[in-house]
Formats: sequence, C-alpha cells, structure tokens
Amino acid sequence: MSDWHTPGGQLDPLKVRAAYPILSTTPGGRPLHYLDSAATAQRPKAVVDAVSNFLLTANANPHRGAYTLGGDATAAYEGARARTAAFLGVPAEELVMLGSATEALNLVARSWGRANLSRGDVVLVTEAEHHANLIPWQQVTREVDADLEFIPVDDVTGEILWDRLEGLLKLRPKIVAVGHVSNVLGSAAPLAQIAPQIHAAGGLLAVDGCQAVANMPVNIPDTGADFYAFSAHKMGALFSGGGLWARAHLLNEMNPIETGGDMIREVRLRDATFAEGTQKFEAGTPDASGTVALAAACDFIDDLGREQIHAHEVRMLERVLRELPEALPDARILGPRDAKDRIGLVSFSSDLVHAHDLATILDRRGVAIRAGHHCAMPLHEQLELSATARVSVAPYTTDEDLDALFDGLRDARKIFAR
Ligand SMILES: Cc1ncc(COP(=O)(O)O)c(C=O)c1O
Repeated sequence: MSDWHTPGGQLDPLKVRAAYPILSTTPGGRPLHYLDSAATAQRPKAVVDAVSNFLLTANANPHRGAYTLGGDATAAYEGARARTAAFLGVPAEELVMLGSATEALNLVARSWGRANLSRGDVVLVTEAEHHANLIPWQQVTREVDADLEFIPVDDVTGEILWDRLEGLLKLRPKIVAVGHVSNVLGSAAPLAQIAPQIHAAGGLLAVDGCQAVANMPVNIPDTGADFYAFSAHKMGALFSGGGLWARAHLLNEMNPIETGGDMIREVRLRDATFAEGTQKFEAGTPDASGTVALAAACDFIDDLGREQIHAHEVRMLERVLRELPEALPDARILGPRDAKDRIGLVSFSSDLVHAHDLATILDRRGVAIRAGHHCAMPLHEQLELSATARVSVAPYTTDEDLDALFDGLRDARKIFAR
C-alpha cells in the first residue's frame, strides 16, 4: 500500500487530503468542507503538476510539428489517450477525446442518431437522465420524427423502475441511453443485466458514465455498453475534457459533426475526405494539456485504489444516511436506502428548509453542497420537487466534513423551526 492508506489497507482520507492543496484553503475565512464533488471533483496537486510539466517542457501543437518538440507533444497526447483507455479497459483506437461528456453525448445523438434514426423509430431514456443525456435525444428525435420514450421512476423515491424495461423493449428501441450512476439518486444502473436484454431486442446501449468512473471500478467491456461517455473534471482532471468510447465498427460508420483541421485525409477546394478512427471526431487542435491531466488523474485514482475509494465513499454515505434523519427529521431522501447500493452521493429535500436556504446556511460553516435541480429537471418535476440538496463524497471526504454538515443541518433546523 502507498502513502494514502492505513496499515489495514483502507483509504485514509486525512492522508489523501494532503494531496489536494485547495482543501487547506479557507474560503471566506472558514475551513473548507467540500461536499460537492459530484458537480466537479477537486484536483490533486499531481494533476496540476503533470499539466504544468507538459506546458513547460513539451508544449507544441500535437500531430503537426516535424520537429522534436512537436513529436514530444504528440507522444504526450497519444500516451495520455492510451493511459485513459487502459484505465477504462478499452483500446486507445476506440477512445475519442472531447471537450466534455456533454460533447460526447451530443456526438452520439447527432452523428449516430441522425444517420440511424428515422420516422417512427424509438429512442428510450430514463426519466432520471441528466439534461446532457436527454436534450440531445429530444433534438434528434424531433429532427427525424422518431419517438422518445421513457423508463419511468418511482414517484416517491425517484428510483428508476428497471423492471419496466422488458415491456418497453417490445417497442424495439434502436438505442437506449442511460446514466451509469444517477447524479441525483446515486443509484447505479444494472448495466450487465440490461445490456443483453437491449441487444436481444435489436437495440444499442449508450451510457453516460460521468458519475461512475471516479467513484467505482469501471471496466467498460463489462458493462455491455456500445457507447460510453465520461467527464474529465469529475475525475480530478481539468474542466475541458471528456471522452467517448464506442465500438470500432460504430466509430467507423459514424460521420463527424465538427469539421476542420486535424480530422482530414485530403482537402480540395470543393470537398474533403476524413481521417479514420478517433481522429475524424477530433477537429482542430487537440486539448493535449487536458488529456495529459486526465491521464494523471487516472494514475492518481489507481494509486488510491478504485475499490478503496468506493469502500471509503460507502462508509461516508452510510453515515450520511444514518445521521441525516436525526439532524433534519423531515428530510425526504431520494434513491436507495442502503449505502451499499449508492455511488458517491445523497440527495434530499425538506419541507422545513428549502434546499437553497440549506446550502446558504451550511456555507456559513464552510460546508459546500449543491442545491437545485442538478440538471435533472424532469426527474424533479416527476417527484413534485422544485429543488433538492445534494451531498457528494470523494476519497478526501473526512468525518470532520460530515460533522460540520450535520452541525449546519441542525443550525438550519433551529432557524426554520422558530
Ligand atoms: C450524470 C451527468 N451527465 C453528464 C454531465 C455533464 O458532464 P460535463 O460537465 O463533462 O459536460 C454531468 C455533469 O454534471 C453529470 O453529472
């Protein structure tokens, strides 16, 4: 075990914290208790150092320079793609590096969707999807006059009713697009179980992995997905970054949705032919520094241990689920009741304290949580909630962070119970 673990092999969050300089800062003069990692994870110094090292020693435009430094930049970029691909268990030739998960999901809908969907075809998503995995499908189904159908959620807990999938597959959806882990419910989709069902019905499975890859071991081939999108900033890398893995034959069949430099084979005045493979989807100068950061984030996550991160986060969530009802008795907790069935987060609402007031009161104690609809407005509408509060954890979350959270919740209860 490395520097980050107890002698028993568990993750020691106090040791991990030391790798994140921002966690020792005091925004507004208060110690920081960052419980919003589902929105964006904090960056370990190792990631920032990797970017700075690339920019200070290997910076040049990748894929272009015939000089040595240009070769170094290309090697750094392609090496970082290969490292990220290995982290996810897929070949580098099938991993498209993009600016965000949003871009990746739009690529699937606009490229694969426009080419493969037509009038009357069905696309299936869940009612709990993040807007990034919903609106692109709304747009493309409207454009081609296809139907968008939904796997429903339970009206009280919000849990996705996966047992309805079998019936919905009778509609023979051409694609089913689901989140690996819901960014509101914290529940994981049973991908290994639903992928064969979807394939047997003749459809493809597209997965939004944003909330999964940093919090649990993910080996994409085990999921059965045909497309898998993820976000770099949720993994401790830079804001600009994300990727799309797709099966090689799908990538080969798909058209680029952005065109320009670096994605071409030959260009004449009136037409052009495109590069093969991933390069076809990476128009313009690639984000080499962001991709280097992503590879460093993968190294760091593996150094901590993905099983250990998951186990630590389950321990933190167990405490949240146990103590939240004591601190705020009217809290309505969304998603599964057992922390073992959750990945990384707990969302809740309270009739006594609005989520935004809660976030403001917690901020007085330096506790940062997310309040709002978390880019899942239809789910909130289904649950008749305008907003929820969301607590999300990470390898650097400590018991002290949770103590501060519960103290803040008790403050809020006192203020609003008057
Ligand atoms: C489930 C889910 N999907 C998609 C996204 C969008 O990711 P990105 O910020 O990389 O576009 C997020 C981020 O909030 C998310 O949580």
